[in-house]
Amino acid sequence: MSPVSATGTAADSEATCPPVGSAVIEVCNVIKTYVNGDTYTPALRGVSLHVEEGEFIAIMGPSGSGKSTLMNVLGLLDTPTAGSYHIRGADVSKLEEIELAEVRAREIGFVFQSFNLLPRASSIRNVVLPLIYTRVPVHERQARVEAALRAADLEESLWGKAPNQMSGGQMQRVAIARSLVNNPALILADEPTGNLDTKTGAFILKTFERLRDEGRTIVLITHEPEVAEHADRTIHIRDGLITDAETAYATDAQLAAAAQVEEPTTRPEAGDVR
Ligand SMILES: Nc1ncnc2c1ncn2[C@@H]1O[C@H](COP(=O)(O)OP(=O)(O)OP(=O)(O)O)[C@@H](O)[C@H]1O
Ligand SMILES: [Mg+2]
Repeated sequence: MSPVSATGTAADSEATCPPVGSAVIEVCNVIKTYVNGDTYTPALRGVSLHVEEGEFIAIMGPSGSGKSTLMNVLGLLDTPTAGSYHIRGADVSKLEEIELAEVRAREIGFVFQSFNLLPRASSIRNVVLPLIYTRVPVHERQARVEAALRAADLEESLWGKAPNQMSGGQMQRVAIARSLVNNPALILADEPTGNLDTKTGAFILKTFERLRDEGRTIVLITHEPEVAEHADRTIHIRDGLITDAETAYATDAQLAAAAQVEEPTTRPEAGDVR
């Protein structure tokens, strides 16, 4: 018996998802059930989500709705119980931990509410670490770190300073630089302004907007409507389900494909963009 049927919470019918294309995120009918002894907690109950390159989306929902679980799945920090997940067309839902770690380091940049920086290492040291992990040659590192710190708007006088001598907003800029340095397909931000005052939070959100304008793909998790307003579209999650499923699809072409409707369009067919 699969854990899904054991919970009785699976979306019984298979969701019809668009054919796999080259979108940054294609999640189809993902179920995540936590199992602790005899207790099954259905945290995601059939989530489908499509995010195109260069989109900035917000995922909103009340406490316990499954936001962090979804973030962990999207960030390859946890594997779904069922369903599929493709990043830029590659199936990542069934990878082993070692492969997951490789894809995670290369394709995903994380920004957390609590910054998760090394408090006594300099900004430069914090930002270079992902490059060391992905074995970027030494001679390329400095230029990449400086470009990331600039892209995150961290003033140069703070590059040699450590986070334990910085404000929250400055720390979050170091974290954003770290998330950018490997040029990831996707930036995942979990409540990135949760520990910041409103004004500082607004500046950080402006930086995310600019990064989106430069072509970055950003998924931001929040429970604050004012934060979600900065995104191009907002997806609502409740009790492990996306409640506005139609907005989970980015384009009319994909919506039509999901509904299995033929649509005359100038956009490439899914088969062409594979
Ligand atoms: N490791 C775990 N083991 C068992 N149940 C879990 C685990 N992590 C989360 N859950 C449960 O899964 C559901 C979704 O939790 P999740 O942390 O994803 O919610 P959330 O939307 O991020 O909430 P919050 O806004 O409070 O952070 C909740 O019912 C939670 O109790
Ligand atoms: Mg959470």
